[in-house]
Amino acid sequence: MVASEIDPPGLDPKEFHDFEHTGWQRAATDYHRHFGSLTSQTIEPLLDAAGPASAGGEPRLLDIAAGPGYVSAAAARREWSVTGVDFSESMIALARRNFPQIDFQLGDAEALSFENASFEAAVMNFGILHLAQPEAALREACRVLRSGGRFAFSVWATPDQTRGFKVVLDAVAEFGDPSVTLPAGPPFFRFSDPEESRRALEAAGFVDPRIKPVPLVWRLESPAVFFEAFLKGSARTGGLLNAQPPEALAKIRASVERRIAPFASGAKLEIPMPALIASTRKP
Ligand SMILES: C[S@@+](CC[C@H](N)C(=O)[O-])C[C@H]1O[C@@H](n2cnc3c(N)ncnc32)[C@H](O)[C@@H]1O
Repeated sequence: MVASEIDPPGLDPKEFHDFEHTGWQRAATDYHRHFGSLTSQTIEPLLDAAGPASAGGEPRLLDIAAGPGYVSAAAARREWSVTGVDFSESMIALARRNFPQIDFQLGDAEALSFENASFEAAVMNFGILHLAQPEAALREACRVLRSGGRFAFSVWATPDQTRGFKVVLDAVAEFGDPSVTLPAGPPFFRFSDPEESRRALEAAGFVDPRIKPVPLVWRLESPAVFFEAFLKGSARTGGLLNAQPPEALAKIRASVERRIAPFASGAKLEIPMPALIASTRKP
């Protein structure tokens, strides 16, 4: 594996890939419990953006980094022919349990096992920001689409807008143990920049990239649940939290719960977590 020029110095793609894999193996059930209601909010606009221009037929869709299978299930409800792939055995087991009628396969977004031109549409919902080599995954998405096929991915907006990320990152900056380091990875918010998404999609062989903001709101029971969601249900942020010594982690937890409390609305928290959907076409 080779790092790209935008990546931080010291990035070892294999090390980062393995770190993410370990993280998702650990986090699958809690991701499903806490993040599913949030990441599912982009499904319909994502499928609209990846859908074939003309109705008719039964378009074949590849759901890349499918996780618990939400996007695949929604596409199957549109009567598309769906395959979901994910590199985490735990996620694939969960997706098969959630939606037994759908074809979920173990596979790597950076090296797909499908023939060229196998699909009319491909999507990746909040997957690209977890990849060691996103350029490779974009090239692979392009390769497996047939000419005229569409691809769409979603990412989080920057932390000044995704207030949940800001709360956790600020608390770690203030109370985290500075000696804790994780395997270096590509910038988490790289594709929150529409220009960067357009550039990367065109470099991978796509044309006419378009970026659309989508306003998501995360509704959770309490500040304690919000902290647990990141601690147990996320790979990268969860990895950073889990690597903290107990004393630092306790301070981070208290700080996170204090900072997120003002987002209470009635009996729940309501946290702005906007996303961006990038969509494009294979020429
Ligand atoms: C944030 S979750 C998104 C899950 C799902 N798409 C959703 O809509 O909620 C990221 C997913 O990417 C998967 N993933 C990360 N790196 C991958 C890779 N190289 N190949 C395939 N899947 C990968 C993880 O296992 C995890 O299921």
